[in-house]
This record gives sequence, structure tokens and C-alpha cells, in this order.
Amino acid sequence: MLKEIKSDIYHLMHPKMAFFLTSIAKDGKPNVMACAWATPVSEEPPIVVVCVSKESYTAELIKQTKEFVINIPTKKILKALWICGKTSGRDTDKFKKAGLKYSKARFIKSPVIDECIGHIECKLWKALDAGECYAFFGKVLHAEVDDGYFKKGVWTEAAEIPLHLGGAKMVYFKL
Ligand SMILES: Cc1cc2nc3c(=O)[nH]c(=O)nc-3n(C[C@H](O)[C@H](O)[C@H](O)COP(=O)(O)O)c2cc1C
Repeated sequence: MLKEIKSDIYHLMHPKMAFFLTSIAKDGKPNVMACAWATPVSEEPPIVVVCVSKESYTAELIKQTKEFVINIPTKKILKALWICGKTSGRDTDKFKKAGLKYSKARFIKSPVIDECIGHIECKLWKALDAGECYAFFGKVLHAEVDDGYFKKGVWTEAAEIPLHLGGAKMVYFKL
């Protein structure tokens, strides 16, 4: 029987890949948050969108420095993903707290997370005011992936990418 729902409507569109979104402050201090609301919007030129709460420190930083990186994790660093999704970088060094290492990205100042198997470096193209979030559209400047997990343009199930269902529930990519 179909029943009208008034809340959690967005969960009808889950599961969604959960990843680390890294950004940087003007003073060079990086931050990281967990993010699931994102999608590619154009293949040529490559443009992606990430939806980020206006209250988050990440939104403040992306507005400031106009760039971000999408870092794709595996199941192995799920605990770190929860830490980055439950605390704010305003008062915590989440890389330290979550035990994540990072390196310089190729084209932007926001860092890439070493433990992740894919990185998408983006320059902010447009920002839309969208309810409690900003929709940040990013032009992809560079993308790289561990070829042990991504073959012929698609993920293999060896990647075990976390897919967020809602709340504390995750499922994992399986073929
Ligand atoms: C699995 C998961 C997915 C999340 N997805 C999003 C998201 O898509 N957009 C968002 O604004 N917050 C999302 N969050 C919440 C942010 O990660 C959280 O508010 C974080 O503390 C913000 O950190 P910041 O203040 O350092 O930017 C998610 C949290 C988890 C655990």
C-alpha cells in the first residue's frame, strides 16, 4: 500500500555514496566533513555538485576559498567518516581526531586524503542558495583513482564503497 510521507522524503533517494569533502581556510588550515548529497551534473565540461549545510564550517570555507575535493573512501575508514560527520572543524582538527593523513592536491590548495581511493579536485563554479544548504557546483580540474578498484570506467566490488542509507545505516557497494 502506498502511504504519503511528510518527513525523510530525501531518504527515498538514498543510498548515496558517502565521501570525505575537504576544503581549506584562507590561512591554509584544511578541514574535512562527511558528505553524501552530491552528483555529477555535466560530463562535458565535467561539473559536479555537492550540497552542504549553511551551518557547517565547510560551507564557510568553500565560500571563502572557492574550491573543494571529493575524497572517496572504502569500508576500511568508515569510523573516520562518522567522526568527520559528527564533529565540526570550527573547534576540532578532524584529520587528527579521525587519524587521517593528507597530501597536497595537484591543482588546488585543499588537500587530498591519503587513505582514500579516489580524489576529485574542484574549483567552485557557481553556488546556489538551496534551503538549509548551499549547492556548490564545482568544475573538475583533476580526478584520480586507484586502478585496483576502478576498471574500464566503473567501480569493482573490491572497493566496498560505503553507501549511506540514512541515520547510522550504511550499505556497501556490491555487484
Ligand atoms: C554519512 C554522512 C553523510 C553526510 N552528508 C552530508 C551532506 O551531504 N551534506 C551536509 O551538509 N552534511 C552532511 N553530513 C553532516 C556533516 O558531515 C556534519 O554536519 C559535519 O559536522 C560538518 O562539519 P564541518 O562543520 O567541519 O564542515 C553527513 C554526515 C554523515 C555521517
